[in-house]
Amino acid sequence: MIAENRSRSTAKKGERQYVDRETRRRDGRRQRHRASLLQAVGCARRQDRHRGLADCAETVGAIKKNAGTAIAVRCDQTSEADVAKLRATVEKELGGCDILVHCAGIYPTAAIDEITFEQWRKVLSVNLDSVFLLVKAFLPAMKEQRWGRIISVSSTTFHSGIAFNTHYTASKGGLIGFARSLASEVGDFGITVNTIAPGLTRTDTTVNGKPGEFGWFDMIREQQAIKRTETPEDLTGTLAFLASEDAAFITGQTIVVDGGWRFS
Ligand SMILES: NC(=O)c1ccc[n+]([C@@H]2O[C@H](COP(=O)([O-])OP(=O)(O)OC[C@H]3O[C@@H](n4cnc5c(N)ncnc54)[C@H](O)[C@@H]3O)[C@@H](O)[C@H]2O)c1
Repeated sequence: MIAENRSRSTAKKGERQYVDRETRRRDGRRQRHRASLLQAVGCARRQDRHRGLADCAETVGAIKKNAGTAIAVRCDQTSEADVAKLRATVEKELGGCDILVHCAGIYPTAAIDEITFEQWRKVLSVNLDSVFLLVKAFLPAMKEQRWGRIISVSSTTFHSGIAFNTHYTASKGGLIGFARSLASEVGDFGITVNTIAPGLTRTDTTVNGKPGEFGWFDMIREQQAIKRTETPEDLTGTLAFLASEDAAFITGQTIVVDGGWRFS
């Protein structure tokens, strides 16, 4: 910002060189971060129905087509060993992780009477343990470079408390608490930690799952201020903003992106 706000004609020679160097450094960093964001966003778009893990070939192809850099790494984010391998691959192939977007999640619907402890553990593990493992893996390098962005995808089920989602809602509330506490811990390292809370969003899993089956799209759309169904593209602007320098002073927050369904 300093560089942008200063006129070339009024800056002295020494200052100008400093300003140019700073501008180049910042622009380079922004480009790197934009590329990293695309890489990160590409991590969880497609469901591989056989293994429950993403096959990102289509997303990687789309990023590369748009002159981005992308790799796909198969990783069970509930496995410490898999996450360690992910970190090693990211460091080798991309030089590290500046922006970590945690999006993996499962959302089975069931009454509390029906949820077994095993099912409870599974939801908590995929939705919440995963962010712990990813942060443990990538935070040290962010601290070392004194810059980083950590963004996780929560849900407005936390704000609305809809029935038959106790395990899911507990896990998504956990992400919000995790972000608040971690934000306070790492703010001095130039690292921000935030969450995005989407409303009901049209994805393969929601369309083919309970939301589609029970007509929730129509019901929730009518309750929103903006009466159309949310799509994944509605989330990318907020994601890019939180990852950018413009959001450097926003941390520990949850941004609700749901067309005005719930007001936080
Ligand atoms: N779609 C919605 O209405 C909605 C609303 C609010 C929040 N969310 C959240 O957004 C995220 C994406 O939801 P979606 O609708 O795109 O679902 P989705 O099923 O399409 O995506 C979930 C992704 O998580 C990955 N995943 C599952 N288990 C994993 C594991 N152990 N390790 C690594 N990856 C794993 C899957 O491969 C898949 O790519 C989830 O966290 C979900 O809770 C979705």
